[in-house]
Amino acid sequence: MRQLLLVFAHPRLEASRVNRRLLDAARSVDNVTIVDLYERYPAFDIDVEHEQRELSKHDVMVWHHPFYWYSAPPLFKQWIDLVLTFGWAYGPGGTAVAGKSVHHAVTTGGGAEAYSHDGRNRYTIQEFLRPYEQTARLCGMSYHEPFAVHGTHRLTTTDIEAEALRYRRFLEDCLHEH
Ligand SMILES: Cc1cc2nc3c(=O)[nH]c(=O)nc-3n(C[C@H](O)[C@H](O)[C@H](O)COP(=O)(O)O)c2cc1C
Repeated sequence: MRQLLLVFAHPRLEASRVNRRLLDAARSVDNVTIVDLYERYPAFDIDVEHEQRELSKHDVMVWHHPFYWYSAPPLFKQWIDLVLTFGWAYGPGGTAVAGKSVHHAVTTGGGAEAYSHDGRNRYTIQEFLRPYEQTARLCGMSYHEPFAVHGTHRLTTTDIEAEALRYRRFLEDCLHEH
């Protein structure tokens, strides 16, 4: 059975409506290991060797965070910067993560219609996430279409429950993909 590492970053989970529920749904999926970065490293002092060992044990990763200023919260970037090192994840001899799969899971305050070339944000989510896509590719990983929950501020409790169920199914699909 494939193993999935869910790398999660939310700077204020106590105030979260949507991601907190998505994360709860993820906890109920077998073969998923959750790394809650802000809980584990509130001072940004990432244990690089530990994170690299964790990453080596998993076949699939999900990079999960709310969309902040068209990107990720800073601790997620710190994780990328410190963990995906030269000579380990890329460069000469850097093949530790080659062949793994990466999926992105993001939530946005903006509605789906805002993330189009005619919309208020002018670009699609995939376009905003290009640096992450290329980071994954440079390290020899395959990068897939993101799972996105849009218009978070307008979601009712019932809508959020439906999104949590959809996220659970998405994670199960990530585990079963080939
Ligand atoms: C600092 C900050 C920056 C944000 N930037 C964006 C953004 O660029 N685009 C967007 O659609 N929503 C943006 N939002 C809204 C968040 O994406 C939204 O509040 C979050 O996905 C809701 O999830 P939660 O209930 O788990 O916090 C931003 C929110 C904060 C606090």
